[in-house]
Amino acid sequence: MPKKLKITETVLRDANQSLCATRLPMSEFKPILETMNKVGYHSVECWGGATFDSCLRYLNEDPWVRLRTIRELMPDTKLQMLLRGQNILGYKHYSDDTVRAFVRKSVENGIDIIRIFDALNDMRNIETAVDECQKAGGEAQGTISYTQSPVHTLENYAKLGKRIEELGCTSLCIKDMAGVMSPQEAFDLVTALKAEVKLPIVVHTHATTGLGAMTYLKAIEAGAEVIDCAIAPFAGGTSQPCTETMDHTLTQMGYDTGLDTAELHKVNEFFEPIKKAYVSEGKINPFVMNVNTNALHYKIPGGMLSNLIANLTDMKSLDRLNEVLAEVPNVRKDMGYPPLVTPLSQMVGSQAVNNVLMGERYKNITKEIRAYIRGEYGTSPAPVNPELVKKVMGDEKPMEGRYAETLEPEIPAAVEKLGDLATCEEDVLSYVAFPQQAEKFFQYREEHKGMKVTYSIRKISD
Ligand code: CO
Repeated sequence: MPKKLKITETVLRDANQSLCATRLPMSEFKPILETMNKVGYHSVECWGGATFDSCLRYLNEDPWVRLRTIRELMPDTKLQMLLRGQNILGYKHYSDDTVRAFVRKSVENGIDIIRIFDALNDMRNIETAVDECQKAGGEAQGTISYTQSPVHTLENYAKLGKRIEELGCTSLCIKDMAGVMSPQEAFDLVTALKAEVKLPIVVHTHATTGLGAMTYLKAIEAGAEVIDCAIAPFAGGTSQPCTETMDHTLTQMGYDTGLDTAELHKVNEFFEPIKKAYVSEGKINPFVMNVNTNALHYKIPGGMLSNLIANLTDMKSLDRLNEVLAEVPNVRKDMGYPPLVTPLSQMVGSQAVNNVLMGERYKNITKEIRAYIRGEYGTSPAPVNPELVKKVMGDEKPMEGRYAETLEPEIPAAVEKLGDLATCEEDVLSYVAFPQQAEKFFQYREEHKGMKVTYSIRKISD
């Protein structure tokens, strides 16, 4: 019996997010969904992460309608989303009632697997989401945000793995958002986790540094069961290693990936012209397609790199990019080595931009970094630079409890505020997550009445 190795396709979420700042509208990929349903993927990551924000903010699309449409056209494939624990799909901490309602509605609308992470690996920040996901009938995938620092040791990672198992998760994901995990490090980490936990291990990386495909092979050699890949036109660079390449390699090595290569090729042919058009229209910057070994030093995830480029371009300061890239590790060290994943990647990125453009470090400390220093995001892996704590807090001490406990329920107030503008509970959740963007979208929807949808919520079995 060939050994099974499962592949998750990320073209609709992470590849889309990493290469073209999540600007792929559903109208673009809808025609291929029925074919994707026949490929035999372990799952298709298609929702969450930045897709929700992007739908409302840039695409005038209802993210919930997107999810239900994908569900309808891909009835046989597990749909997967990425959830930022207590930050759900936003950039701040939400109250527990919001987290529970959001998770429940995600599963009700068609999500099977929720990959849940916390930017600081503070597992208190994923507890509520994991609990609600399992209760709603979804599979909670507990996540270790991978990073490298003096405090991120194999021993500490194994403890995190144990904690994820104790929370009742169905699987464990090693999330290397920057693509900095080397083949040997992956082998050692998967081996250390396998010794400690019984959960299936999923490895997620990016091709940014050119390590990705090799890293997957060594992770699989150590016993990893699932890898994340992207179809060739949307693979490589800051996106995932290529689905077809990994499938080809693993099949020859005697693994059964379960993928239908003929159907897979149709998916490839569908996305090829889209990729070409996006590159020629400037929606995909060729820069993000390159191998960039700077990331081995700067530890910058793909999404963060393309965001920094976009922000600096807006500020007409793209010529300062290298200085900003050099400042990122300094800010990260001052913050106690947080993994650079949303929202920490944005926070550390903005602060690094401030430090460079203001010509003086921490002359202007962002609101988010102040909240972080007050302990509102959780416990940092190592202590924050005491001088900065003093600068922000004076003689007060950062909080030690779970910040969400201090938050009032958010849904009742949102229901009242929205009135008739909300047509269903999903609308309320869109509003709680992104008030301004959602309100703007609801008005757009009003003005384009034809697209108003009635919501029939169905329970997805298996
Ligand atoms: Co990623």
